[in-house]
Amino acid sequence: MAARGASLPTVELRDINVLHWRGALVAAGAAPLARSGLDWFAIDTCQRRVAVVCGAEAAALARQEFPVDGALECFEGADAYAYLLRFAAGLESKLVAETEIFGQIKQAWREFSERASPLARELSPWVQLLFQDAKAVRAQHLGSLGSASYGSQTRRLLGDEAGGGATLLIGAGQLAQSIAPWLTGSQIWLWNRTGERAVELARELAKRDPARPVRVIEGELEAELAAWRRARNVIVCVPGQPSRDVARVAAWREREDRAGRVIHLGLGAEGAAPWNALPELVSLGALFDMLQAQSELRRRQFERARRACQEKALLRSLGANSSHPHSWEDLAAFDSL
Ligand SMILES: NC(=O)c1ccc[n+]([C@@H]2O[C@H](COP(=O)([O-])OP(=O)(O)OC[C@H]3O[C@@H](n4cnc5c(N)ncnc54)[C@H](OP(=O)(O)O)[C@@H]3O)[C@@H](O)[C@H]2O)c1
Repeated sequence: MAARGASLPTVELRDINVLHWRGALVAAGAAPLARSGLDWFAIDTCQRRVAVVCGAEAAALARQEFPVDGALECFEGADAYAYLLRFAAGLESKLVAETEIFGQIKQAWREFSERASPLARELSPWVQLLFQDAKAVRAQHLGSLGSASYGSQTRRLLGDEAGGGATLLIGAGQLAQSIAPWLTGSQIWLWNRTGERAVELARELAKRDPARPVRVIEGELEAELAAWRRARNVIVCVPGQPSRDVARVAAWREREDRAGRVIHLGLGAEGAAPWNALPELVSLGALFDMLQAQSELRRRQFERARRACQEKALLRSLGANSSHPHSWEDLAAFDSL
Protein backbone atom coordinates (compact mmCIF):
# COMPACT_ATOMS: atom_id res chain seq x y z
CA MET A 1 0.00 0.00 0.00
CA ALA A 2 1.50 3.32 -0.95
CA ALA A 3 0.98 6.49 1.07
CA ARG A 4 0.74 9.40 -1.34
CA GLY A 5 -0.24 13.05 -0.77
CA ALA A 6 -2.89 13.78 1.88
CA SER A 7 -5.66 14.32 -0.67
CA LEU A 8 -4.84 11.17 -2.66
CA PRO A 9 -6.01 7.64 -1.95
CA THR A 10 -3.73 5.92 0.58
CA VAL A 11 -4.41 2.52 -0.94
CA GLU A 12 -3.44 1.53 -4.45
CA LEU A 13 -6.24 0.35 -6.68
CA ARG A 14 -4.40 -2.93 -7.20
CA ASP A 15 -4.89 -3.70 -3.46
CA ILE A 16 -8.67 -3.49 -3.68
CA ASN A 17 -10.49 -6.82 -3.83
CA VAL A 18 -14.16 -7.36 -4.44
CA LEU A 19 -16.07 -10.57 -3.73
CA HIS A 20 -19.45 -10.97 -5.31
CA TRP A 21 -21.86 -13.70 -4.30
CA ARG A 22 -25.03 -14.04 -6.34
CA GLY A 23 -27.78 -15.33 -4.11
CA ALA A 24 -31.13 -14.21 -2.79
CA LEU A 25 -30.90 -12.16 0.38
CA VAL A 26 -33.45 -9.84 1.90
CA ALA A 27 -31.56 -6.55 1.96
CA ALA A 28 -30.22 -6.14 5.48
CA GLY A 29 -31.22 -3.13 7.54
CA ALA A 30 -27.57 -2.41 8.39
CA ALA A 31 -24.32 -3.22 6.59
CA PRO A 32 -23.52 -6.79 7.67
CA LEU A 33 -20.58 -7.66 9.92
CA ALA A 34 -18.26 -10.51 9.01
CA ARG A 35 -18.61 -13.48 11.38
CA SER A 36 -14.82 -13.60 11.74
CA GLY A 37 -14.69 -9.92 12.74
CA LEU A 38 -12.87 -9.12 9.48
CA ASP A 39 -12.95 -5.44 8.55
CA TRP A 40 -14.93 -5.52 5.29
CA PHE A 41 -17.31 -3.21 3.50
CA ALA A 42 -20.26 -5.43 2.62
CA ILE A 43 -23.38 -4.54 0.70
CA ASP A 44 -26.43 -6.81 0.75
CA THR A 45 -29.21 -6.56 -1.78
CA CYS A 46 -32.00 -8.96 -2.62
CA GLN A 47 -29.90 -10.36 -5.49
CA ARG A 48 -26.37 -10.51 -4.10
CA ARG A 49 -23.80 -9.83 -1.38
CA VAL A 50 -20.76 -7.77 -2.37
CA ALA A 51 -17.76 -7.37 -0.06
CA VAL A 52 -14.82 -5.00 -0.50
CA VAL A 53 -11.51 -5.59 1.30
CA CYS A 54 -7.89 -4.49 0.90
CA GLY A 55 -5.09 -6.96 0.23
CA ALA A 56 -4.87 -10.61 -0.74
CA GLU A 57 -4.83 -11.83 2.87
CA ALA A 58 -8.11 -10.10 3.73
CA ALA A 59 -9.60 -11.39 0.45
CA ALA A 60 -8.69 -14.95 1.43
CA LEU A 61 -10.37 -14.48 4.84
CA ALA A 62 -13.41 -12.87 3.24
CA ARG A 63 -13.87 -15.88 0.93
CA GLN A 64 -14.51 -18.01 4.01
CA GLU A 65 -17.55 -15.83 4.86
CA PHE A 66 -19.38 -16.95 1.71
CA PRO A 67 -21.18 -20.21 0.95
CA VAL A 68 -19.10 -22.75 -0.99
CA ASP A 69 -21.64 -23.05 -3.79
CA GLY A 70 -19.67 -21.90 -6.81
CA ALA A 71 -21.61 -18.63 -6.99
CA LEU A 72 -18.70 -16.49 -5.80
CA GLU A 73 -16.75 -14.22 -8.15
CA CYS A 74 -13.57 -12.41 -7.10
CA PHE A 75 -12.07 -9.33 -8.69
CA GLU A 76 -9.00 -7.31 -7.92
CA GLY A 77 -7.51 -3.97 -8.90
CA ALA A 78 -8.99 -2.30 -11.96
CA ASP A 79 -11.39 -5.24 -12.47
CA ALA A 80 -12.67 -4.77 -8.91
CA TYR A 81 -13.26 -1.07 -9.54
CA ALA A 82 -14.97 -1.81 -12.88
CA TYR A 83 -17.25 -4.32 -11.15
CA LEU A 84 -18.20 -1.81 -8.44
CA LEU A 85 -18.89 0.77 -11.12
CA ARG A 86 -21.19 -1.56 -13.04
CA PHE A 87 -22.89 -2.50 -9.76
CA ALA A 88 -23.41 1.16 -8.75
CA ALA A 89 -24.64 2.14 -12.23
CA GLY A 90 -27.25 -0.64 -12.11
CA LEU A 91 -25.58 -2.63 -14.90
CA GLU A 92 -25.28 -5.76 -12.74
CA SER A 93 -28.94 -5.64 -11.69
CA LYS A 94 -31.51 -7.99 -13.17
CA LEU A 95 -33.55 -4.90 -13.86
CA VAL A 96 -30.69 -3.39 -15.86
CA ALA A 97 -29.93 0.28 -15.21
CA GLU A 98 -32.30 0.49 -12.23
CA THR A 99 -31.47 3.46 -10.07
CA GLU A 100 -32.34 2.22 -6.55
CA ILE A 101 -29.10 0.28 -6.26
CA PHE A 102 -27.05 3.48 -6.13
CA GLY A 103 -29.02 4.64 -3.08
CA GLN A 104 -28.58 1.22 -1.44
CA ILE A 105 -24.79 1.36 -1.93
CA LYS A 106 -24.62 4.92 -0.60
CA GLN A 107 -26.64 3.90 2.46
CA ALA A 108 -24.40 0.86 3.09
CA TRP A 109 -21.33 3.09 2.78
CA ARG A 110 -22.79 5.67 5.18
CA GLU A 111 -23.35 2.96 7.78
CA PHE A 112 -19.94 1.38 7.22
CA SER A 113 -18.02 4.65 7.30
CA GLU A 114 -19.72 5.61 10.58
CA ARG A 115 -17.82 2.70 12.15
CA ALA A 116 -14.63 4.63 11.28
CA SER A 117 -12.60 1.43 10.88
CA PRO A 118 -9.16 1.50 9.22
CA LEU A 119 -10.68 0.04 6.05
CA ALA A 120 -13.34 2.78 5.96
CA ARG A 121 -10.59 5.40 6.01
CA GLU A 122 -8.57 3.58 3.34
CA LEU A 123 -11.50 3.07 1.03
CA SER A 124 -13.06 6.50 1.48
CA PRO A 125 -11.23 8.31 -1.39
CA TRP A 126 -11.92 5.40 -3.74
CA VAL A 127 -15.58 5.28 -2.84
CA GLN A 128 -15.91 9.02 -3.52
CA LEU A 129 -14.33 8.48 -6.95
CA LEU A 130 -16.61 5.51 -7.53
CA PHE A 131 -19.73 7.59 -6.82
CA GLN A 132 -18.44 10.33 -9.13
CA ASP A 133 -17.71 7.85 -11.94
CA ALA A 134 -21.02 6.01 -11.50
CA LYS A 135 -22.91 9.30 -11.86
CA ALA A 136 -20.86 10.10 -14.99
CA VAL A 137 -21.58 6.70 -16.58
CA ARG A 138 -25.28 7.10 -15.91
CA ALA A 139 -25.37 10.66 -17.23
CA GLN A 140 -23.34 9.90 -20.37
CA HIS A 141 -24.73 6.50 -21.31
CA LEU A 142 -27.95 5.78 -19.48
CA GLY A 143 -29.52 9.23 -19.11
CA SER A 144 -31.82 8.94 -22.13
CA LEU A 145 -33.11 5.48 -21.25
CA GLY A 146 -36.01 6.78 -19.28
CA SER A 147 -36.26 5.56 -15.75
CA ALA A 148 -35.86 1.82 -15.31
CA SER A 149 -36.78 1.28 -11.71
CA TYR A 150 -39.23 -0.97 -9.94
CA GLY A 151 -41.33 2.14 -9.38
CA SER A 152 -41.41 3.23 -13.01
CA GLN A 153 -42.21 -0.33 -14.17
CA THR A 154 -45.00 -0.62 -11.64
CA ARG A 155 -46.49 2.66 -12.78
CA ARG A 156 -46.24 1.57 -16.41
CA LEU A 157 -48.10 -1.63 -15.53
CA LEU A 158 -50.89 0.17 -13.68
CA GLY A 159 -51.21 3.03 -16.17
CA ASP A 160 -51.04 6.69 -15.23
CA GLU A 161 -54.44 6.67 -13.56
CA ALA A 162 -53.97 3.25 -11.93
CA GLY A 163 -57.51 2.42 -13.06
CA GLY A 164 -59.06 5.15 -10.94
CA GLY A 165 -59.32 3.18 -7.68
CA ALA A 166 -57.11 2.99 -4.62
CA THR A 167 -53.73 1.28 -4.74
CA LEU A 168 -52.86 -0.71 -1.63
CA LEU A 169 -49.14 -0.92 -0.89
CA ILE A 170 -48.13 -3.72 1.48
CA GLY A 171 -44.79 -3.06 3.21
CA ALA A 172 -42.82 0.03 4.15
CA GLY A 173 -39.23 -1.18 3.65
CA GLN A 174 -36.70 -0.09 1.08
CA LEU A 175 -38.63 -1.42 -1.92
CA ALA A 176 -41.99 0.04 -0.85
CA GLN A 177 -40.30 3.40 -0.20
CA SER A 178 -38.84 3.43 -3.71
CA ILE A 179 -42.12 2.47 -5.39
CA ALA A 180 -44.55 4.67 -3.44
CA PRO A 181 -43.49 8.00 -5.02
CA TRP A 182 -44.33 6.60 -8.48
CA LEU A 183 -47.94 5.84 -7.58
CA THR A 184 -49.21 9.30 -8.33
CA GLY A 185 -52.42 8.60 -10.24
CA SER A 186 -54.48 7.10 -7.44
CA GLN A 187 -55.23 7.17 -3.76
CA ILE A 188 -52.59 5.19 -1.88
CA TRP A 189 -53.37 2.97 1.08
CA LEU A 190 -50.40 1.83 3.12
CA TRP A 191 -50.28 -1.24 5.32
CA ASN A 192 -47.20 -2.61 7.09
CA ARG A 193 -46.60 -5.16 9.87
CA THR A 194 -44.93 -2.41 11.90
CA GLY A 195 -47.53 0.34 11.70
CA GLU A 196 -45.13 3.17 12.62
CA ARG A 197 -43.09 2.55 9.47
CA ALA A 198 -46.23 2.94 7.35
CA VAL A 199 -46.99 6.21 9.17
CA GLU A 200 -43.41 7.35 8.52
CA LEU A 201 -43.72 6.51 4.80
CA ALA A 202 -47.03 8.40 4.62
CA ARG A 203 -45.28 11.40 6.19
CA GLU A 204 -42.50 11.23 3.60
CA LEU A 205 -45.03 11.09 0.75
CA ALA A 206 -46.95 14.03 2.19
CA LYS A 207 -43.73 16.06 2.32
CA ARG A 208 -43.16 15.46 -1.40
CA ASP A 209 -46.75 16.09 -2.42
CA PRO A 210 -49.07 17.44 0.31
CA ALA A 211 -52.12 17.27 -1.99
CA ARG A 212 -51.79 13.56 -2.55
CA PRO A 213 -54.36 11.30 -0.89
CA VAL A 214 -52.49 8.79 1.30
CA ARG A 215 -54.12 6.69 4.00
CA VAL A 216 -52.49 4.38 6.51
CA ILE A 217 -54.46 1.20 7.12
CA GLU A 218 -54.23 0.67 10.85
CA GLY A 219 -54.83 -2.63 12.57
CA GLU A 220 -54.04 -6.27 12.14
CA LEU A 221 -55.15 -8.96 9.69
CA GLU A 222 -58.83 -7.99 9.44
CA ALA A 223 -58.03 -4.36 8.63
CA GLU A 224 -55.54 -5.46 6.01
CA LEU A 225 -57.95 -7.94 4.43
CA ALA A 226 -60.72 -5.32 4.28
CA ALA A 227 -58.35 -3.14 2.29
CA TRP A 228 -57.58 -6.05 -0.08
CA ARG A 229 -61.33 -6.37 -0.74
CA ARG A 230 -61.71 -2.71 -1.67
CA ALA A 231 -58.46 -1.79 -3.45
CA ARG A 232 -58.28 -1.58 -7.23
CA ASN A 233 -54.61 -2.67 -7.30
CA VAL A 234 -52.30 -4.16 -4.69
CA ILE A 235 -48.51 -3.96 -4.68
CA VAL A 236 -46.83 -6.35 -2.26
CA CYS A 237 -43.33 -5.42 -1.09
CA VAL A 238 -42.85 -7.99 1.68
CA PRO A 239 -41.61 -11.58 1.46
CA GLY A 240 -44.16 -14.39 1.03
CA GLN A 241 -45.95 -15.21 4.30
CA PRO A 242 -47.59 -18.65 4.08
CA SER A 243 -49.63 -18.06 7.25
CA ARG A 244 -51.31 -14.99 5.77
CA ASP A 245 -51.17 -15.31 2.02
CA VAL A 246 -54.11 -17.69 1.62
CA ALA A 247 -56.35 -15.15 3.41
CA ARG A 248 -55.00 -12.33 1.25
CA VAL A 249 -55.73 -14.20 -1.97
CA ALA A 250 -59.22 -15.09 -0.73
CA ALA A 251 -59.94 -11.44 0.19
CA TRP A 252 -58.75 -10.30 -3.25
CA ARG A 253 -61.12 -12.79 -4.89
CA GLU A 254 -64.07 -11.42 -2.93
CA ARG A 255 -63.89 -8.02 -4.64
CA GLU A 256 -66.94 -6.84 -6.56
CA ASP A 257 -64.84 -4.97 -9.11
CA ARG A 258 -62.77 -7.67 -10.78
CA ALA A 259 -60.41 -5.27 -12.62
CA GLY A 260 -56.96 -4.41 -11.31
CA ARG A 261 -53.71 -6.19 -10.60
CA VAL A 262 -51.69 -7.74 -7.82
CA ILE A 263 -47.99 -6.95 -8.29
CA HIS A 264 -46.01 -9.12 -5.87
CA LEU A 265 -42.31 -8.28 -5.74
CA GLY A 266 -41.46 -10.37 -2.70
CA LEU A 267 -42.12 -13.74 -4.31
CA GLY A 268 -38.93 -14.42 -6.22
CA ALA A 269 -38.73 -15.08 -9.92
CA GLU A 270 -41.13 -18.01 -10.15
CA GLY A 271 -44.04 -16.76 -8.11
CA ALA A 272 -45.46 -19.23 -5.60
CA ALA A 273 -48.72 -20.73 -4.38
CA PRO A 274 -51.30 -19.46 -3.59
CA TRP A 275 -50.42 -16.35 -5.61
CA ASN A 276 -49.73 -17.99 -8.95
CA ALA A 277 -53.37 -19.08 -9.17
CA LEU A 278 -54.36 -15.43 -9.70
CA PRO A 279 -54.47 -14.57 -13.44
CA GLU A 280 -53.99 -10.88 -12.62
CA LEU A 281 -50.74 -11.54 -10.70
CA VAL A 282 -47.52 -9.89 -11.85
CA SER A 283 -44.52 -11.42 -10.08
CA LEU A 284 -40.99 -10.15 -9.83
CA GLY A 285 -40.05 -12.68 -12.54
CA ALA A 286 -42.74 -11.34 -14.86
CA LEU A 287 -41.45 -7.82 -14.28
CA PHE A 288 -37.93 -8.95 -15.23
CA ASP A 289 -39.31 -10.65 -18.36
CA MET A 290 -40.99 -7.42 -19.47
CA LEU A 291 -37.67 -5.70 -19.31
CA GLN A 292 -35.97 -8.44 -21.24
CA ALA A 293 -38.11 -7.40 -24.13
CA GLN A 294 -36.03 -4.23 -24.22
CA SER A 295 -35.11 -2.60 -27.50
CA GLU A 296 -31.88 -3.05 -29.43
CA LEU A 297 -31.09 0.57 -28.66
CA ARG A 298 -31.19 -0.10 -24.93
CA ARG A 299 -28.98 -3.16 -25.38
CA ARG A 300 -26.40 -1.12 -27.23
CA GLN A 301 -26.55 1.62 -24.62
CA PHE A 302 -25.87 -0.92 -21.87
CA GLU A 303 -22.92 -2.28 -23.84
CA ARG A 304 -21.46 1.19 -24.19
CA ALA A 305 -22.02 1.87 -20.48
CA ARG A 306 -20.26 -1.41 -19.55
CA ARG A 307 -17.29 -0.49 -21.73
CA ALA A 308 -17.20 2.94 -20.11
CA CYS A 309 -16.98 1.27 -16.66
CA GLN A 310 -13.98 -0.80 -17.77
CA GLU A 311 -12.29 2.21 -19.35
CA LYS A 312 -12.83 4.41 -16.31
CA ALA A 313 -11.39 1.68 -14.09
CA LEU A 314 -8.28 1.46 -16.27
CA LEU A 315 -7.87 5.23 -16.17
CA ARG A 316 -8.29 5.23 -12.38
CA SER A 317 -5.56 2.60 -12.12
CA LEU A 318 -3.25 4.97 -13.98
CA GLY A 319 -3.98 8.00 -11.80
CA ALA A 320 -6.82 8.25 -9.39
CA ASN A 321 -7.29 11.87 -8.42
CA SER A 322 -8.86 13.64 -11.37
CA SER A 323 -11.72 13.07 -13.75
CA HIS A 324 -9.38 12.81 -16.74
CA PRO A 325 -6.10 11.66 -15.30
CA HIS A 326 -4.63 10.39 -18.58
CA SER A 327 -5.31 10.60 -22.25
CA TRP A 328 -6.97 7.94 -24.36
CA GLU A 329 -3.54 7.29 -25.90
CA ASP A 330 -2.31 6.31 -22.40
CA LEU A 331 -5.28 4.02 -22.08
CA ALA A 332 -4.50 2.34 -25.41
CA ALA A 333 -0.87 1.88 -24.34
CA PHE A 334 -1.95 0.47 -20.97
CA ASP A 335 -4.39 -1.88 -22.66
CA SER A 336 -1.69 -3.32 -24.89
CA LEU A 337 0.72 -4.11 -21.99
N1 LIG B 1 -35.03 -3.74 -2.26
C1 LIG B 1 -35.15 -4.11 -3.53
O1 LIG B 1 -34.61 -3.45 -4.43
C2 LIG B 1 -35.96 -5.33 -3.90
C3 LIG B 1 -36.10 -5.65 -5.26
C4 LIG B 1 -36.88 -6.77 -5.64
C5 LIG B 1 -37.50 -7.54 -4.67
N2 LIG B 1 -37.33 -7.24 -3.35
C6 LIG B 1 -38.04 -8.08 -2.36
O2 LIG B 1 -39.03 -7.26 -1.72
C7 LIG B 1 -39.20 -7.67 -0.35
C8 LIG B 1 -38.94 -6.47 0.56
O3 LIG B 1 -37.61 -6.01 0.35
P1 LIG B 1 -37.06 -4.66 0.99
O4 LIG B 1 -35.79 -4.37 0.28
O5 LIG B 1 -38.12 -3.62 1.04
O6 LIG B 1 -36.68 -5.15 2.47
P2 LIG B 1 -36.66 -4.30 3.84
O7 LIG B 1 -36.25 -2.90 3.58
O8 LIG B 1 -35.90 -5.13 4.79
O9 LIG B 1 -38.20 -4.29 4.26
C9 LIG B 1 -38.85 -5.50 4.53
C10 LIG B 1 -40.34 -5.26 4.50
O10 LIG B 1 -40.98 -6.54 4.61
C11 LIG B 1 -41.70 -6.59 5.84
N3 LIG B 1 -41.52 -7.94 6.39
C12 LIG B 1 -40.38 -8.66 6.45
N4 LIG B 1 -40.61 -9.87 6.99
C13 LIG B 1 -41.93 -9.90 7.29
C14 LIG B 1 -42.79 -10.88 7.87
N5 LIG B 1 -42.34 -12.08 8.26
N6 LIG B 1 -44.10 -10.57 8.02
C15 LIG B 1 -44.57 -9.36 7.62
N7 LIG B 1 -43.82 -8.39 7.06
C16 LIG B 1 -42.51 -8.66 6.90
C17 LIG B 1 -41.10 -5.53 6.72
O11 LIG B 1 -42.05 -5.14 7.68
P3 LIG B 1 -41.58 -4.44 9.06
O12 LIG B 1 -41.38 -2.99 8.74
O13 LIG B 1 -42.68 -4.71 10.00
O14 LIG B 1 -40.27 -5.12 9.46
C18 LIG B 1 -40.85 -4.43 5.66
O15 LIG B 1 -42.03 -3.78 5.29
C19 LIG B 1 -38.20 -8.81 -0.13
O16 LIG B 1 -38.90 -10.03 -0.32
C20 LIG B 1 -37.17 -8.61 -1.24
O17 LIG B 1 -36.54 -9.84 -1.60
C21 LIG B 1 -36.60 -6.15 -2.94
